[in-house]
Amino acid sequence: METLNGNAVAKVLKESIKTEVLALKSKGVKTPHLAAILVGSVGASMTYVAAKEKDCHEVGFDSTVLRFPETITEAELLAEVEKINNNSAIDGLIVQLPLPKHINEKKVTETISWKKDVDGFHPMNVGLMFKGLPCFLPATPYGIIKLLEHYKIETTGKHCVIIGRSDIVGKPMSALMLQKNCTVTVCHSKTKNLKEMTLQADIVIAALGIPEFLKGEMVKEGAVVIDVGITRVDDASNPKGFVLKGDVDFASVSPKCSFITPVPGGVGPMTRVGLLLNTLDAIKRNQDLRSKM
Ligand code: GUN
Repeated sequence: METLNGNAVAKVLKESIKTEVLALKSKGVKTPHLAAILVGSVGASMTYVAAKEKDCHEVGFDSTVLRFPETITEAELLAEVEKINNNSAIDGLIVQLPLPKHINEKKVTETISWKKDVDGFHPMNVGLMFKGLPCFLPATPYGIIKLLEHYKIETTGKHCVIIGRSDIVGKPMSALMLQKNCTVTVCHSKTKNLKEMTLQADIVIAALGIPEFLKGEMVKEGAVVIDVGITRVDDASNPKGFVLKGDVDFASVSPKCSFITPVPGGVGPMTRVGLLLNTLDAIKRNQDLRSKM
């Protein structure tokens, strides 16, 4: 069994992003600039946005975080998004989810210009992705593909079973694994005999958000297991008051695997790199446009 070290691969990719940024700057191209909108003060969202800000600084991007109170109205938030859409200094925009209940996330997602949508959530990018055309890929599936490629894990002809059908992970992951020549099965909360499905999988991608859901008896010998789960579980003995748990029961699953991602240190850092790669892509595409004008 080999652990897929997301931290180490992310470090390598971040170094190459940093080199590309320096090369762009030396050609007089502007510094890539990622903006994040954070509404309210949900602990996990604040942590994620702080991490994205740190990543930007590490690779030499500019970064702006716009913080708004939970009481911001939907109309006010949409106006802020429009301001960034029209601000040529900013190349990529993410609005950290979840948003307060009185704000329609779909409306916000669809208001972000698809050309700055480095989360890859806009229907335009989703459509381009399903057709295999250049677009912004959602960061987690993008990061997972990069991780599989880094370790040269064979995908052609393999059966990939994805557990979870979210817009952010399960659905886009299915399209990308199909493009990598896998036979893809997407399982979800209404799937019957889930274990029968996962036992057939050469590659299992667990993205359902239930801690330690996938047990050793559910995977076949030699499977590749990718754990997307990252749930905060209360733990009074931990100084933070919680521990992070994946969707895979690492203790029982890992002895059967050829490759497995740990939590933390597997998919999480690769997701963060996915966002950086998209932001770099945003500026490269803008450059292409400019040179054709
Ligand atoms: N909340 C949880 N994951 C994500 C993500 O990938 N992007 C944004 N914007 N919010 C999230």
